[in-house]
Amino acid sequence: MRIAVISGTPKSQGLCHSIIDAVKRGAADGGAEVMELKLCELGLQPCQVCDDGWGICRAEHRCVIEDGFADAKAVLASCDAFVLATPVYWWEVSEPLKNFMDRVRRCEFGQEGALSGKQALLIAVPGGSGNGLLSCLEQMERFCRHTGAVIFDYIGVNRWNSDYKRETAYAAARSIAEGRKNGQTV
Ligand SMILES: Cc1cc2nc3c(=O)[nH]c(=O)nc-3n(C[C@H](O)[C@H](O)[C@H](O)COP(=O)(O)O)c2cc1C
Repeated sequence: MRIAVISGTPKSQGLCHSIIDAVKRGAADGGAEVMELKLCELGLQPCQVCDDGWGICRAEHRCVIEDGFADAKAVLASCDAFVLATPVYWWEVSEPLKNFMDRVRRCEFGQEGALSGKQALLIAVPGGSGNGLLSCLEQMERFCRHTGAVIFDYIGVNRWNSDYKRETAYAAARSIAEGRKNGQTV
């Protein structure tokens, strides 16, 4: 079992980072091989909206921009399950994650693609206001619906629930790694 952790945080410390750490520990303790994509370090460009709205992404399932996106997408293709983890910025996912999701879903559209049927764990980490948690999770949910991924769980972590939500994030990743399937009764 390979689990890809797609990180939207630019920070190497702080709340979101600590939750990603818990996810990685849970996945590893469950026996999974963990791959992490730190999107903020990749400098991927936003979608250019080629031609009249659809570029070759629709016909050829690839993006024309040559900036490392294909390698990043290949990590998703090679995993069995994945985690999207992001701080909440402007009630949404962070910009690098938005760019990545935009381009991936275009390339995956209209085919039984790389994410079809794969379990996804969605984690949103807002700041002191807690604003935008639901809209951020919903944005990631849409990405999963568009790509055919199967949502395993939604986790919202803020500053006053992080103690028990960190444990939840660990347990969720571990459960996926150990093979728990959607629909199974525990
Ligand atoms: C540009 C920007 C926009 C933000 N927008 C929100 C927001 O809409 N709602 C919120 O609760 N926190 C917002 N925050 C705070 C982050 O969500 C906060 O950094 C998050 O809790 C992650 O914590 P961490 O930085 O310790 O990892 C924003 C932060 C930045 C830098």
